[in-house]
Amino acid sequence: MTAPTMQINAGLTMPGLASEHRLQAMLNGAAKKQLGERLALEVEPPLWTAEFFKLAQTDLFLAASVSERDEILMLCSRSLVEEALLIEKCGMAFGAKMSALSESTEERMFYNLMAGEEAVHYHQVRQFVPNNGEDVAPNAFHHLLARLIENGDRDSLGFIIQVVLEGWGISHYKTLAENTLSQKFSIELKEILKDESRHHGTGVILSRERTFGIESIEYSVKVLVEFLQMIQLGSQAVLGAVLSVLGELKKEQKITLLEQLDSVKDSAETLQKLRSLMILNGGEDIVSRLDVLHCFTPYLAEDCL
Ligand SMILES: [Fe+2]
Ligand SMILES: [Fe+2]
Repeated sequence: MTAPTMQINAGLTMPGLASEHRLQAMLNGAAKKQLGERLALEVEPPLWTAEFFKLAQTDLFLAASVSERDEILMLCSRSLVEEALLIEKCGMAFGAKMSALSESTEERMFYNLMAGEEAVHYHQVRQFVPNNGEDVAPNAFHHLLARLIENGDRDSLGFIIQVVLEGWGISHYKTLAENTLSQKFSIELKEILKDESRHHGTGVILSRERTFGIESIEYSVKVLVEFLQMIQLGSQAVLGAVLSVLGELKKEQKITLLEQLDSVKDSAETLQKLRSLMILNGGEDIVSRLDVLHCFTPYLAEDCL
């Protein structure tokens, strides 16, 4: 395992500059070069329907008042955009670290371009959250991602971030783009997708030609166990949104809600997608260790509470 030669802060809680700071105009000039008239957009949430979140097939949502339904939907919508926003923020730090760890000129060129693209993505997504995303609080997944970027070695980072997470991100962003109520957000997501396919493709090329050292394998397994557990737990974001609007529910009500949301089924599908991404792209040793730990099997609804 190549030891990181620099310490990077993933920047999850890094503050933004004041809107009147002179750097803002310089940054806008640079972003405008990429985005043109799409530099500043205004959009009304929610960005997806109750059907998209599978809420419309649950008894609890259907029995809720109109204002409760609106609030649940707003929370679900916001948590999806916020999740994407902080992933893009971490992407900037990832590109910078991988550039520093590069071992060829072309690899460094690629990661420098990638860091720039992630910065543009961050700007694209932050227009769809209030206050430019300054108030967004990181969740457990973001903290895991930040720790990984800060501590991971070159091979583990390339595999977990570019092969697994960006590979999964492509289908995730595609679904978000195809189903969003906002034409503007759909356009931004489709533009982001073009870059993400390149980031993923490069990770695949590099991971397939590398032989992972035992330390990289063990480190990747440790991180992926934690990441997969978040998927094994199913539709936690939607459950959380319902609980924060309707208040605490009985255990049986929560189990029924998760069942009606197809939580276990969707979790099983995502886990299989992630497993194929790993096994097809140089991660056989990692997958066999994760298989032993049953990391690709979703938890039963009653074990997700
Ligand atoms: Fe991105
Ligand atoms: Fe990316």
